[in-house]
Order: sequence, then C-alpha cells, then structure tokens
Amino acid sequence: MDPNVHLPQVPLRKRTETLEDFNKIPAHVFPASAGRTEDGELVIAGNRVTHLADQYGTATFVMDEADFRARCRRLAEAFGGGERVHYASKAFLSRTVCRWVDEEGLALDVASHGELAVALAAGFPPERITVHGNNKNHEFITAAVQAGVELVVIDSLIEIDRVAEIARQEGRVQDVLVRVKPGVHADTHEFIATSHEDQKFGFSLASGSAENACLSCLSTDGLRLRGLHCHVGSQVFEADGFALAADRLLGLWARLVSGEKTVDADVTALDVLDLGGGYGIAYTPDQEALDVEEVAGDLLSRVATKAASYGVNAPVVNVEPGRAVVGPSAVTVYRVGTVKDVHTADDTVRRYISVDGGMSDNIRPALYQAEYDCRLANRLATGDLVSTRVVGSHCESGDILINDALMPDDIAPGDLLVIPATGAYCYMMASRYNMMTRPPVIVVADGESRVMIRRETVEDVLALENF
Ligand code: LLP
Repeated sequence: MDPNVHLPQVPLRKRTETLEDFNKIPAHVFPASAGRTEDGELVIAGNRVTHLADQYGTATFVMDEADFRARCRRLAEAFGGGERVHYASKAFLSRTVCRWVDEEGLALDVASHGELAVALAAGFPPERITVHGNNKNHEFITAAVQAGVELVVIDSLIEIDRVAEIARQEGRVQDVLVRVKPGVHADTHEFIATSHEDQKFGFSLASGSAENACLSCLSTDGLRLRGLHCHVGSQVFEADGFALAADRLLGLWARLVSGEKTVDADVTALDVLDLGGGYGIAYTPDQEALDVEEVAGDLLSRVATKAASYGVNAPVVNVEPGRAVVGPSAVTVYRVGTVKDVHTADDTVRRYISVDGGMSDNIRPALYQAEYDCRLANRLATGDLVSTRVVGSHCESGDILINDALMPDDIAPGDLLVIPATGAYCYMMASRYNMMTRPPVIVVADGESRVMIRRETVEDVLALENF
C-alpha cells in the first residue's frame, strides 16, 4: 500500500495583464498598509518607498511591524490562544521579531542552535520554545535543556537516548514530542513537502516506528512524552492535508492514551498534538492565501470529534506557521540598473530588467521555481505591456527573480521595483554570492522607519577572514 495520499493541485487563477492592474497595489499580496499616494508613489506604513530607498539604499527589505503583529493576533485568535501558535522562526528571525512574537503572546519554534541562541539573546521565554531539527547535536540539546525549553521534538531513535542522557545529567526531565510522518503528500514543491515516507524527518506512522518511538520515550528516564508532532509541508493550499494528518495522528494518540500498549507507562502527561505549519500565502495577485480561520475551525472540531469517537480526551492543538505570519509583512525594494531586449530562440523579444539584488537575497525562484510579482514604487507606469524577465546582478543566468511577466515598457534605469511577499525565507536564505553583501531589513511603522538589521558591508566579510 502506498502510505502517501496525493492531494490535487488547486488551480490558480489567471494572472492580471493590464496596465491598470500593474499600477494597482494588490492588498492580499502587500502589507496591509501599502497603497499609492495621489502622485502615484508606493507608501508602506506611511513611508514613501522613494524616501526609504534614498535613506537606506537598495536592495533593501522593508517590514511592516503592524502587519506582522496583526497576523500574529489573527492566528492566535483562530487557534484559541497565542500559546497554541508557535511562530516558525526559520521563516524570519531577529531579536526584534522575537520581541514582537513575545509581546503578541505567541510561542516560538527553533530548528537550530543558532535560532535558539537568537531567541534566548532576545529574552524570549524558554518555556514557550519548541526545539526542532533532524540532527541536533550535543551542544544544541544541552543548550536547550539548560535553558528550560518547553518541548524538544524527537526525530530519531538516537535522539531519544541523546536527549534523555543530557536531561539526566542536568537533573531535569525534558518534555518531548515525537515527530511523525503521517504519509500525507502535500501538493507543493518536492523540496518543501515533509510528510511523505521517503524523506528525512520523523518516524513513519504506517510502519509502526512512530508508535515504537513513543513507547520508547515513555519508558526512558529523563523524558516525559507530551504528544505527537507532524508537518505536512510548506506553502500548502489544500486544507484537507492538515485534517487528514490530524486524523491519522489521532489514531496513534488514542492507542497511546487508552493504555492498550502502554500498560506500565504513565501517559497522563500526553496533552499536545502539534500539526506544524505550512499555510500557503499569495505571492502573486492571482493566488489566494489559505483561510486560517477556516483551517483552524475545521482542525479543532475535527480533533475534538475524532478524539470523542475513540473515547479519549482531545489533546490541545499547537500549530507552527512561519510564512503565514511574516511572508506578506515584508517587501524587497530594488533599483533598476539596466534594461535590455533579448531575441529568444523562436525570434520573439523578451525584455530583461536587471535590479541591484537577485538570487543572493531571494533564492526561492531558483530553488523552487517560486513565482513573484512586482510593482513600480516611484511612479505609475504608462507604457505598453511587454514580456519581461526581472533578473538580478549575479554572474549566473539562473539568477532570475520573475521569470515571465507582462510589464510596462517604460520601466527604465533608476526606477524602483518592489517585489512583495518576501518576508519569509528570503533574508533567512540569503547568501553573499559574488560578494554581494546582504541587504538591510528596515522596519516601518506609523510613518517612521528604523533599521532592524543593518546592511552587510565588505568590511564585515573581510573581518571573517584571516589574511
Ligand atoms: N514547522 C516545521 C516543523 C517546519 O519544518 C516548517 C517549515 C514550519 C513549521 C513552517 O512552515 P511555514 O508555515 O513557514 O510554511 N525554505 C522553504 C520553506 C521550507 C520550510 C521548512 N519547514 C521556502 O522558502 O518555501
């Protein structure tokens, strides 16, 4: 039996293709505060993007604080409280963002020693931190246990012993979840689907190894099993995948808490079902974000009903959205450097617009064929629409930000192009390929702006090197 359930792809609506559409600021793709002034300039949280570009240079990330906080609140409300929503910090992490997440009452997920270190440096309460990773080393686990994190998510049998030993050495009992692959294949890019069988994360439900891992945790001194975890994938639009994963995990849950296989074990601490993140957002105007209220309502009632049908108490449901919190809160501002018409093989013409960033600040198009859109920030466009590719400045032909879009032909060197929905997995996956140093992240709020992360300089790079 193929334990992976393949979900259908949701068809996307056709992309907008008129000049009027190009000049519009689509509210579901941009931060909520974005709009145009009467003279046609793009404004975010009361800041003209032209002023931001003058002050901070380009390329630069601009993050709308109120938008970020509003998304935290919306998710907390949908899932019945901030402590149920664990912001997946891999999407975007800084001490400032930790402070926002803390102030909004959310919990935090970290997936590396570095992420944990940043969270702790920000003073984020460890009792609201969950620790992930398929290869947590001794130092990372020790730091987590010593800090007193709430949960460590167990990803392999080796880790059961490793975490238990460290907890015992530290004189603690560490609360853990067991990561389970429920065999639901999310219909997203293969690299970001994480719940089918043949990938590195978690224990298989179908083969019984997840159950064995739970039993092993229950019988290991130094560990206290609090529940199960799964994450079906990222940028998922098909809500059924989450529900199906929850159903499958509840089968194992019921077997554990009903004492069928756990006669001598104390199962009273089991109270958490963590269903991961992955809620899809709109990157282009034709897409629509997953409705988190709908997903939350469906999941919570499903878990309650299913648990009742097994005759067991329903667990609390934790979730771990990253992209749905920070993705739409930030944009990237680039300045156009060159414009060139290129004859393609079938002798049509494609316009290439080069901007002062590229795959070093947004690897997602190259890595996942991710689609983005852009808008002119310094004025309204007036030209005819032509087939255009927006490319970066790297010494690589795959350095493409927008592969194929109809864009006005009056866009010229000096214009400012803004790509929306770059808050998640862009800065965090940035490199300094070609020694193009990382852009700054600027916070905008109430007509003010400030630097969250400054622009990296060549001096920063040289300082790392012994010469
Ligand atoms: N929880 C776990 C265990 C995860 O592995 C992830 C993402 C999340 C939560 C958050 O997923 P989100 O809500 O942000 O979709 N670099 C890729 C995404 C990889 C995500 C890996 N895990 C991208 O740029 O799309």
